[in-house]
Order: sequence, then structure tokens, then C-alpha cells
Amino acid sequence: MDRFPPVDPAVASRVLNEVRGCTFDDFIFSPQSSVLERRDPAVIDLSCRLSRRIVLKRPVVSANMDTVTRAPMAIVQAEEGGIGIIDRGFRPGEIEPQVREVGIVKRTQHGVIADPFNVSASATLDEAASIMRRSGVGSLVVVDGSRRLLGLLTERDMRFVPREGLRVADRMTPVDRLVVHPGPITPDAAQRLMAERKVKKLPLVDEEGILMGLVTARDLLRQRRLPFATRDAQGRLRVGAAIGATGDYLERAAELIRTGVDVLVIDIAHGHSIVMDRALAAFRARFGDFELIAGNVATADGATFLLERGADAVKVGIGPGGGCTTRMTTSFGVPQVQALVECRRALSGSDVSLIADGGVKRHGAIFMALMFGGDSVMLGSAFAGTEESPGEIVQKSVVLPESQKTVKVPFKVLRGMASLTAIRDRLDVEDADKVELEAIGAEGMEISVPARGSARTIVRDMIKHLCSSISYGGAGSLAELREMFWKDPDRYLIRQSESARRESYER
Ligand code: XMP
Repeated sequence: MDRFPPVDPAVASRVLNEVRGCTFDDFIFSPQSSVLERRDPAVIDLSCRLSRRIVLKRPVVSANMDTVTRAPMAIVQAEEGGIGIIDRGFRPGEIEPQVREVGIVKRTQHGVIADPFNVSASATLDEAASIMRRSGVGSLVVVDGSRRLLGLLTERDMRFVPREGLRVADRMTPVDRLVVHPGPITPDAAQRLMAERKVKKLPLVDEEGILMGLVTARDLLRQRRLPFATRDAQGRLRVGAAIGATGDYLERAAELIRTGVDVLVIDIAHGHSIVMDRALAAFRARFGDFELIAGNVATADGATFLLERGADAVKVGIGPGGGCTTRMTTSFGVPQVQALVECRRALSGSDVSLIADGGVKRHGAIFMALMFGGDSVMLGSAFAGTEESPGEIVQKSVVLPESQKTVKVPFKVLRGMASLTAIRDRLDVEDADKVELEAIGAEGMEISVPARGSARTIVRDMIKHLCSSISYGGAGSLAELREMFWKDPDRYLIRQSESARRESYER
């Protein structure tokens, strides 16, 4: 039940007439008789398709913006059941920093660590300690030149011993004293075996004794605590990355795929374009059916264009974003609710997903985006200023309206990816001449947002609110509510007057 239900074209046309020129704040939904005893996020099914083959248990995606999603954000999003898309806001030719971020996510949470950090038996203890420090892991697998398992070295093995003159072989637990499992193993079987043999680490080896992977008790425990997490077939967290449509995008894609990225995003401001046409053809020619999201579009023609060129998901939103000035600077765009309905109608009956991208300023709009057409919702500003968003905290003086007192408040910067500062950072400024920079038409801006807690708390609040919406809507799951809405939209939709809007959303 994770696919958007097919929408009847006649009903979709009626809804489209109703929502033309409208966005989230123009509507409110009429409450229905509730069938839920409890609005419990642990039992209400919110699953959706991010793209043709990737299922999310929570329909939340963090935006590929350089002030929103790097590894820490992507990890939290995937742990909470959504996914993060690592931005490509690194300078052209600098593929490695983005690849590194993807690598960090793929290594964070594993059922089985396919490629555990390792050390040779002849390395010094200082060298081993330095690998531990750099990698942030407390145990290293000891292997020989052909990856044959020789032992295990943990931080504890090095504690309270003088390091001089000692080598890994002197302190490791040798393989004959380890519990080792031949061949692959499921997380459940690994847990049983590790409990029985009272070990915290379980190396996996093939019949030649060559290391195949490592299971750790810590990862198994974390897996249990995060039942909704978005994982790949090997139990690793899933992550996406944006590559653009020109320049180094194919080389970037190749490196990201090699590192284990789950889905790529060809993401340009105007995705219904000749540039996208070329990029999609080149991508498919080189990478076959690798999972690919393309965008952004905001019209039926735009969505059909991407569908016909083999996108696995279409990102919808031209101009609704919090850090975006496209509509102001170009007078082009489509109000987001209209865009969602148009694109949903165009995609209906296909298995290509729709990502509703941008314009969510309050949690209730997430629910609307998921009703009007989004399989999932992409959010940027909602996650800006959190502990996991990149960027330094700056203290700003703010005057309190009540007392007129000036206080220092921590802020973080959110900037549109088409803002001048973001573009300038992507260019190699030393090489770009001044005129070139000045000629750029910026379509984004930079704003300060108050620093707030963890994105994890924000996602969990969003999910609770979404469950409440489902309860008000008279359904038992997200899928069921979509069915009910599209069967009889008039039962739900209330177009608000100006004063009703003020009553609803202004506080
Ligand atoms: P929210 O409203 O969640 O939107 O902050 C996030 C989305 O905004 C888009 N985005 C931009 N659009 N100029 C634009 O026209 C920009 O500089 C810009 N930066 C981000 C993007 O689609 C993102 O996911």
C-alpha cells in the first residue's frame, strides 16, 4: 500500500479547476468521523515510494541544499524513516567531498559491515590508534595482504599498555580465540549467536578464511531502536545525492554509485528543458536503470517530459521554496497545490513517484502535499538551523518586542542554492572573473534562521501531526486517506476566504 492510488482523470480535472492558482494556505480540510482509537505513529502506516523502487516508511525527504543536507542530516532522516539528499554544492571538479558524505552515511548504521576498518598485524599500536581516531570506530579487524582474518584489535586491548615497540600482533585477540561465522548471516541469527557466545563482535569469513564482513552488537541494538529506518538490502542506511545536469555530473554519478549511493537526483531549476533532455539520455546510456529522480517541474507537460525520459521519480516545485526568489525575479512558477495536482494527473497510472518539493511552512502543509499529489515531501527551510544542518552558529542581537531589551540569539544561515553566495562558493572564485559573477541572475536568497534543536525531534513532530491529520480525515493509514480523498474530494476540500485564512493560520 505504498503507491499513490490512480486518480480518475475526470475527478482530477475537477480538482484542478478548484485549485488553479492556489497553494496550501488557500485550503483547509473538513474533519470526518475518526476510526482510530489512538493516533500512534508506531502503528499508523505512512509508507510511500520515494521513487520507482525505493520505499520509505515516512514520507519525508531533506532537500539537497548546502545549508540543509550533509551526512549528519541524511543519517537522521534515514534513521527516522525518510531520506536525505546530499547536495552537490561543492566546487566543480571537487567530487570527493560529496562522495565522502555519502560514504559516512553508508557506514553509519549497518546490519553487516561489508568493509570494516582494518589494520595489518605488523602495524604499530600508534598506527592502529590513529586509524581508530580518524574512523571513529573502537575496534579494527586485523587482516593480512589477501584480507585473511588474523584477529581483532579493540581500544581495550591498547588501554594501559605502553605503546612503544608494540605491534598489533602483540595485543590483538587472534582468530583462533574469536567467535567467527562462516558465510553470510541474518541480523536475527547474528543476534542469537552473539548472545549465546557472549560476544560483541562477529566477523564473517568465507571458506578460505577471507574476511566477508563484521556484525557488531552496537549496530544490532541500534537497528532495533529504529524500526522505521530506511535501509538497503545489506542493512545500511539509504542516502541520495544530487549531481546536476552539466559539467562533471556523469563522473560525479559514477563515483557516487561506486560509494553505494542509493538514488541520484538530476536537479536543475527548470527541469523541463533541453539541458535535462540531454542529461537524462546520457545518464541512462551510461548507468542503465540506476534509480534516478529528476526535476524540477511544475506542469503536466513537464512531468510527462520526465516520465517519458525514464525518471523514476519527478520532483515538483518551481518557486515555492523558502530560500527561493524565482517567482519574484522571473515571474514564472506555479502555485504549489496546482502544480501537485497537475503533475499527479500526468503521472497517474505510471509507477513513477512524485516528490512535492518546497513551500512547506507549517506541518499541516505536509499532509496537504501528500494528498494533492506528493508520494513524499521534500523540505529545506523546515530543517534549517537544526543541529544536523551544516554551518556555523552565529550570535545575533535581537530586540524583544515586549521589553525592548536586546538579547543575543543563536542563528544559522539558510541560503537558496541559486543564491549568489551559494553560486559563488560553487565556482572557483579565483578563476571566475568579476563580470562573470555579476552576470549571474540569482534566483535565491540568504536568510538567517534561529538555531533550534535536533532535526530528529522535528521529524517526529511532523509524523505525529501527520498521524493526527489521518485521524481527522477518517482513515487508518496514509494510503487509505489518499484513496478516500481522491474518491470524493468535495467531502474534504474547503476553499478559505481571506478572513478564514487569517483565522486558520495567523497567530
Ligand atoms: P523549502 O520551502 O522547504 O523548499 O525551503 C526547499 C526547496 O527550495 C528549492 N530551492 C530553490 N529554488 N532558488 C529556487 O528557485 C534557490 O536558490 C533555491 N534553493 C532551494 C529546492 O527545490 C529545495 O528543495
